[in-house]
Amino acid sequence: MHKINIAIDGPAGSGKSTVAKETAAHLSYLYIDTGAMYRSLTFRALQANISEQDEDSLLRLLTDMDITLKHGEKEAQVQVFVNGQLLGEEIRSQAVTGKVSEVSAHGKIREEMVARQQKIAEQKGVVLDGRDIGTFVLPGAELKIYLYASVDERTKRRHLENIANGRPSDILATREELQRRDHLDRERSIAPLKQAKDAVPIDTTDLTSEEVVARICRIAREKETEG
Ligand code: DC
Repeated sequence: MHKINIAIDGPAGSGKSTVAKETAAHLSYLYIDTGAMYRSLTFRALQANISEQDEDSLLRLLTDMDITLKHGEKEAQVQVFVNGQLLGEEIRSQAVTGKVSEVSAHGKIREEMVARQQKIAEQKGVVLDGRDIGTFVLPGAELKIYLYASVDERTKRRHLENIANGRPSDILATREELQRRDHLDRERSIAPLKQAKDAVPIDTTDLTSEEVVARICRIAREKETEG
């Protein structure tokens, strides 16, 4: 048996982070939330008054940022430390969500983020979730999963998640924001959200996260014993 790498991609609200985190816990793997990396850069850019269009300033900001992801058993989401300082819920705020797709569309930013993510994955036994993991970050990952769900279901999940985390949420605005981000993430010229050819697609609309995790873990266990 040997550890493998697992790439989980899909649009917002497809269940990626919950599923990736639980899959990693089941397999005793490391979970890397790549969206949280783009979100922490966006948060810092907003603080520093750097425009989401200013690629060079964003890159300078990122170069000075050491981003570390940690997660305990109980936390629903990963904890993000930037230069040793814990960033909290603010990386999931509407202000950040509203700009993160623009920030993450820049080639130089993606190049740097992808290099960092590939470095982490060198150790094997890593579950990464994002938009371009199976296609660009880890094209050689032993297991690739593409999660998707209907827009209505994804909107409902985001809305409930916002409420559960004490964030203001309007269902129509949540749906519009989700569709806007889907469009930007799918249509951008560099590493757009796309199902890798060899990814296993899973429609999570009518599945619980436990069912999805069980399915992924079953395939992962098979892959661990192969080759
Ligand atoms: O998964 P999330 O909602 O936290 O991701 C936030 C944004 O970051 C998403 O709209 C697009 C971007 N992203 C990306 O471009 N590539 C990734 N691997 C992960 C996220």
